[in-house]
Amino acid sequence: METIENQQTIMPRIGDIAPDFEAVTTKGKIKFSEFAKDKWTILFSHPADFTPVCTTEMSGFAERKSEFDAFNTELIGLSIDSIHSHLAWVNNVHEKTGVYFDFPIIADIDMKVSKLYGMLQPNESETAAVRAVFFIDPTKKIRLVMYYPLNVGRNMDEILRALEALQVSDENGVAMPLNWKKGDKVIVPPPKNLDEMKERLNDNTCERTDFYLCKREL
Ligand code: BEZ
Repeated sequence: METIENQQTIMPRIGDIAPDFEAVTTKGKIKFSEFAKDKWTILFSHPADFTPVCTTEMSGFAERKSEFDAFNTELIGLSIDSIHSHLAWVNNVHEKTGVYFDFPIIADIDMKVSKLYGMLQPNESETAAVRAVFFIDPTKKIRLVMYYPLNVGRNMDEILRALEALQVSDENGVAMPLNWKKGDKVIVPPPKNLDEMKERLNDNTCERTDFYLCKREL
């Protein structure tokens, strides 16, 4: 019999087109390639319903959903639990805390999607997905991937910061330095040849450390 260890782990990488799948979710059946048309998508997994860290994380996504909306971004969660478990958990958290998980959560009971996205990492757990976050752009390209273990919750500020950094980078053709946040200077792409290098060395419109490191306001 084939064990999880014997199966090849597929890990979608940055730059890959997000693998397509069909799934049952708390908002009905979806075909992923048709989900969030012309929008960004955050596809994230959690290890299990009715567990403490996961409850804080799902609540964090729910409480900040309007910020994801403002970034033209749809949320979609996943765990290897049944749809009945998802519905009971959504209802329970709503009753106990008033927080409503108003985004689809995939019931990946056959682990099909978890395996497709490398969310099942057997040396961490053979039965639960790790805490993965896939940032997928409107062309369905994977732009950033985070994996967290079972015992450490993610940082919602960092997820939103990274999403904004990706979008601002795309819109302006610039790169983002360490700890970039809205309002900070951005990095001008470095010169690609000697002529551009000479030009950059005479460019006083940016804050220049040297030709390869120049920052500017947006
Ligand atoms: C939690 O969310 O608290 C959790 C889930 C699975 C394993 C360990 C912790």
